[in-house]
Amino acid sequence: MHGVTVIDHPLVQHKLTIMRKKDTSTASFRRLLREISTLLCYEVTRELELTEEEIETPLSKMNAPVLAGKKLVFASILRAGNGLLEGMLELVPSARVAHVGLYRDHDTLEAIEYYFKAPEDISDRLVIVVDPMLATANSAIAAIQKLKERGSHNLRFLCLLAAPEGLKAFREAHPDVPVFTAAVDSHLNELGYIVPGLGDAGDRMYGTK
Ligand code: PRP
Ligand code: URA
Repeated sequence: MHGVTVIDHPLVQHKLTIMRKKDTSTASFRRLLREISTLLCYEVTRELELTEEEIETPLSKMNAPVLAGKKLVFASILRAGNGLLEGMLELVPSARVAHVGLYRDHDTLEAIEYYFKAPEDISDRLVIVVDPMLATANSAIAAIQKLKERGSHNLRFLCLLAAPEGLKAFREAHPDVPVFTAAVDSHLNELGYIVPGLGDAGDRMYGTK
């Protein structure tokens, strides 16, 4: 699908398979999500622009590449987004962080907002929105709408698993926002869960039910 990149790196795929297994423990699930997030971060930042800076090595001066533009913003959709955030901040420690608190109403599957906090000056920064799951896409669509209302116009969305239904809805709502995912699964079930999926990402990360 146009605007959707599937990150098919073998390490990502292997770790994702372990995360999907129903008997994988909370501790392992959390560790794997953190590990996988660094690999996903590597791919979602692959096209970042570089500029040159004059530096001195012990031997000579040189023009060396450095990231161009302002610091990145990582926007985590709570709760499960925080599982991706940690590893990404390890790779890009200077990134700014936004938090968007949303939960899915279990009956309507609408995204209900309960928290929003973002850096003031997000309009001229690349914002990478992270959430492991894109199911109906109601949460991701609402989070990105909110960030756009705050002036953001350079966004990417990064998840671990996407449903075809969610990808379609997301691309219709935000055609300007590229999506990066480790896998596109079969479908959504009648409760809005991704099948085969991995279950409820937040519950599996935090051991809640
Ligand atoms: C999960 C997940 C996404 C959302 C995806 O969060 O982390 O945010 O569902 O579903 P959607 O695409 O249909 O909106 P949940 O609402 O369970 O909240 P939690 O992260 O606090 O557990
Ligand atoms: N949210 C999850 O955590 N899992 C799903 O399968 C769908 C939404």
